[in-house]
Amino acid sequence: MQTITENTTIIKATLPERDPTKKQEVFYNPIMSSNRNISILLLNSISNKDMNIALPLAGSGIRGLRFLKELKKEKINKLFVNDKKENFVEVFNENLKLNEISKKTIKEKICIHYEDANLFLLNQIKHPETKSFCGYFDYIDIDPFGTPNPFISAAISRITRNGVIAITATDTAALTGTYLKVTKRKYWAVSLKNYMMHETGLRILIRKIQLQGIQFDKALIPILSYHKDHYFRIYFISEKSKEKCDQIIKQHQYLLFCSKCLNHEASNYNSNICQCGEKFQYAGPLWTGDLFNKELISTMAKNNPFPEEQKFLDILKEESKKDMVGFYDLHSIAKNYRSEPRRMDIIMKKLKAVKTHFSPNGIKTDKNIKEIVKLIK
Ligand SMILES: C[S@@+](CC[C@H](N)C(=O)[O-])C[C@H]1O[C@@H](n2cnc3c(N)ncnc32)[C@H](O)[C@@H]1O
Ligand SMILES: [Zn+2]
Repeated sequence: MQTITENTTIIKATLPERDPTKKQEVFYNPIMSSNRNISILLLNSISNKDMNIALPLAGSGIRGLRFLKELKKEKINKLFVNDKKENFVEVFNENLKLNEISKKTIKEKICIHYEDANLFLLNQIKHPETKSFCGYFDYIDIDPFGTPNPFISAAISRITRNGVIAITATDTAALTGTYLKVTKRKYWAVSLKNYMMHETGLRILIRKIQLQGIQFDKALIPILSYHKDHYFRIYFISEKSKEKCDQIIKQHQYLLFCSKCLNHEASNYNSNICQCGEKFQYAGPLWTGDLFNKELISTMAKNNPFPEEQKFLDILKEESKKDMVGFYDLHSIAKNYRSEPRRMDIIMKKLKAVKTHFSPNGIKTDKNIKEIVKLIK
């Protein structure tokens, strides 16, 4: 094992050689430091205080340690860390010492568990250590290898009103159209492999998670959703509201895509003919509502203390101004219509478009494909 430093936190772990999902004594993935940075920034940017925070799949515990050091003082009431790796309790205790976390903080704020993640979430009500704790969490972070599916139900049942559920999914192939049968089985929708596949995959995942909340009248509203490196990440606010659940269902639609003229549109139906006469392909059902809370992403981009995240946050902020389903890919359009690619900034200005983090050549605009082509030609 080696000593690893992430921001100001030190842990003992082995670094993955190539495949980060490969067996390691203690799980630590340096690529995910961005995922952790953004979770810290988000929690410091929302108004929630005195939170009971649960990390059911804590891995090396690096996220929990960083929360203790980097979240504003008033944010944490109790921090619950759990992992079913045999040496987890011992390693986490050692890492608390390495980071000079005070005995008082450890005694008053930290609960360390070694259980199956679902049992950990569901068992808290009767756990002897928690005493006055009511068994519900204000923030739950589901950060597994691969699909989050096994842990979604327990997380939803244990989140407080207005609590935040954060979910990572690294099984991007299953959501982006590589295995159609897998998408159907695991995510109850049809994926489509084209330049929009990361957006459609993310939206398919959002709907699947929302459906699991809706059955308990819990409306899971995305406040920040993105694709980065090899994973999807979504933060939901959970609200108890039948009306909001009904509104969510109305925003579960299909995304229709025409491979001939590159037109796209949201629809309640998965079959239609494009204006050019071609039959639409489709992805979904998927979430067609907002991916971002505009104020939140704007605050995050403004108050960000991590220089390595600034560019990404600025793109998300820009994208949130046209939070619409689907985008156009300027290279695909140029290729399809045999035109020379034009300067992106000039085209964007004319189309009143914004960039999207889903693709370096992607733009979001209210204009339709005919108007875009006219401008490019
Ligand atoms: C991707 S890692 C977590 C990384 C961590 N959240 C971080 O930010 O560094 C996934 C962890 O989940 C743990 N795990 C997998 N299945 C589990 C289960 N059913 N219950 C508890 N822990 C589990 C693994 O031991 C592994 O440490
Ligand atoms: Zn068409």
